Amino acid sequence: MRHLLDIVDLSTREIDELLDVADQIIAQPREYREKMRHRKLATLFFEPSTRTRLSFEAAMLELGGSVLGFSSADSSSAAKGESVADTVRTVGCYADIIAMRHPKEGAPTVAAQVSPVPIINAGDGGHNHPTQTLTDLLTIRREKGRLDQLVVGMCGDLQFGRTVHSLMNAMARYKSIRFVLISPRELCIPDYLRESMRKAGVPFVEVEKLEDVIGTLDILYMTRVQKERFFNEADYVRLKDSYILDPEKLSRARQDLCIMHPLPRVNEISRAVDSDPRAAYFRQVLNGKFVRMALILKLLEGEA
Ligand code: NCD
Repeated sequence: MRHLLDIVDLSTREIDELLDVADQIIAQPREYREKMRHRKLATLFFEPSTRTRLSFEAAMLELGGSVLGFSSADSSSAAKGESVADTVRTVGCYADIIAMRHPKEGAPTVAAQVSPVPIINAGDGGHNHPTQTLTDLLTIRREKGRLDQLVVGMCGDLQFGRTVHSLMNAMARYKSIRFVLISPRELCIPDYLRESMRKAGVPFVEVEKLEDVIGTLDILYMTRVQKERFFNEADYVRLKDSYILDPEKLSRARQDLCIMHPLPRVNEISRAVDSDPRAAYFRQVLNGKFVRMALILKLLEGEA
């Protein structure tokens, strides 16, 4: 039985195959309508979510399966003090596969140790978010036609942004990737990630001003400052509007820039950018459903 806890659980080849299946689903959705008939996905969300949870549910429904679950810890027995392990053992009696989001880093790994069914990490604290990474990779491949030879700008909260951590670990495995890391000093990438980029020999620079580097980028991955991971409100208020991408800043960017954001957006991309053809973030949302369909197929049927 396979779980997906970290993006590095998948080989580069497996990732490429998953993206191929997602492309096929996009081309021929009817072919997949019955694949998960009588199978059930449980979504256990101990933290807020819109896209991740609903795209998992839409993915399973479009495969002909059913969904059950909860969308906040308060409405589950976690509120009575039940452990993650006991919750997962229980839900494993009712569902064939579990997508789980939890504020504690490593909670899905604990779940996987006891679960009778595959566990998918749908975000654990400030750590990892592998299915967002699959979404991001599909988007990059569809928008740019490749996953190698790219200058990738990561902008915003690189300290707590779990989507950034997973995406960097995944992209580091493709050829000729260079990262431009744009953040206030306090929100720079964690040391362990800096170390793994060095070990993997992936070049990166760390800068504070978006304007200085925007013209060099193939991809600009904007992120929200992760309010819920801050210890004090004053720090959040001081840092929250560090970057706001607007048409003026965008005027310095290349015509073939691809602008991404895992969403939700707060202020970091002005609404005026949404109509720019380079804004890929709502196409990215749609890709999230297709790649999750491919992942469910792979974990339950070994099809991808
Ligand atoms: C992200 C997350 O939950 O980490 N959202 C998502 O899953 N699309 C990003 C965020 O919350 O800022």
